[in-house]
Amino acid sequence: MRFQAIIFDLDGVICSTDEYHFQAWKKIADELDIPFDRTINNRLRGVSRMQSLEIILENNPGDPFTDTEKQSLAADKNEIYKDLLSQMSEKDLSDEVRNTLNGLRDMGLRLAIGSSSKNTPLILSRIGLNGFFDAVSDGNNITHSKPHPEVFLKAAEMLDLFPQNCLVVEDAVSGAEAGHAAGMKVACVGDAAQQGAGDWNLTAFSELVSIVEG
Ligand code: BG6
Ligand code: MG
Repeated sequence: MRFQAIIFDLDGVICSTDEYHFQAWKKIADELDIPFDRTINNRLRGVSRMQSLEIILENNPGDPFTDTEKQSLAADKNEIYKDLLSQMSEKDLSDEVRNTLNGLRDMGLRLAIGSSSKNTPLILSRIGLNGFFDAVSDGNNITHSKPHPEVFLKAAEMLDLFPQNCLVVEDAVSGAEAGHAAGMKVACVGDAAQQGAGDWNLTAFSELVSIVEG
């Protein structure tokens, strides 16, 4: 087999929480009369909460915000986001993702999460995947978010594997860059696949099985 482990991004790969990030930021941006659309939103994929806010504020037509105001805006966004997460359940894990994950595990692969999100434990528990992964590296144990490779290098370290034996799965261009910077091959879905950012650019999550078979 071509890899020993797969490190999955969470938002926009395992589940569609990327849409909730968009809705929550959109609400904040609309309240501030700051233009914000799905094209700008694609730049927020993979980057931290505070960096996401900075990208949105590039279009702020008004006076600059203080650091305290920025902290408060990010906290407001997270409350809106967590409200949306609270509606999630195991039904928000698609059959395709669930079956593919189980199939990959049955093939002997180790499976990990590599996400910039501090809400990773909450999301995994809502979709019924708490305790499923062999390692979880997330926004709570990193100091640099994607495109920095830290989150993926930490996941490989937790698995006790060399980076070149791990495949990253990403929907973010910044995440694909992070995977490559970590010395890993990258399979992309969604926006990153459309941008051609991966070594493989998938149209379906289940295609991962044939990639690891080589
Ligand atoms: C990433 C998302 O997974 O997590 C980003 O792609 C998000 O859009 C980042 O900003 C941080 O998420 P959170 O949940 O810690 O605000
Ligand atoms: Mg993502």
